[in-house]
Amino acid sequence: MKLITTIVRPERLPDVKAALFQAGVTGITLSRVSGHGGEQEIVSQYRGTTVVMEFHEKVKIEMACSEPFVEPCIKAILASARTGEVGDGKIFVQPIERVIRIRTGEVDNAALTAVNAAAVQRAALESAHHAGVSAGEEEP
Ligand SMILES: Nc1ncnc2c1ncn2[C@@H]1O[C@H](COP(=O)(O)OP(=O)(O)OP(=O)(O)O)[C@@H](O)[C@H]1O
Ligand SMILES: [Mg+2]
Repeated sequence: MKLITTIVRPERLPDVKAALFQAGVTGITLSRVSGHGGEQEIVSQYRGTTVVMEFHEKVKIEMACSEPFVEPCIKAILASARTGEVGDGKIFVQPIERVIRIRTGEVDNAALTAVNAAAVQRAALESAHHAGVSAGEEEP
């Protein structure tokens, strides 16, 4: 189990949500955050120069994923959140020690939103099949 935390541009959020949904990720926490990614705005003053740390509006998305969902989730974020400009954000992946569903007392994988690796694999096979067809492979 991994906790995937990603910081993305607010304007990419609709695409990121759709991509995560398509990858089968359903347990999600969203927060509006202010972030700083290392950029430094230089402000000149009367004597010398002052470097200002600017904060930008970002969206933080947190997802606890069982192992089959980790790579599909990362791929979905990369494909949907990237503009190629600075400030596209980051993905942090951390191990999770325990998950407990409060209602039932279920723990770990059983406590995560229904694990449906079959659906993820089916979707991956379908998209590989479509890529093959468009590359000129014969239909079976
Ligand atoms: N090391 C970090 N720790 C925590 N949050 C971070 C870190 N780096 C970036 N973030 C968060 O991600 C947001 C976007 O970061 P950003 O994409 O600017 O990272 P970057 O490393 O400067 O990459 P780029 O060069 O593409 O801009 C930040 O505003 C901040 O919220
Ligand atoms: Mg940056």
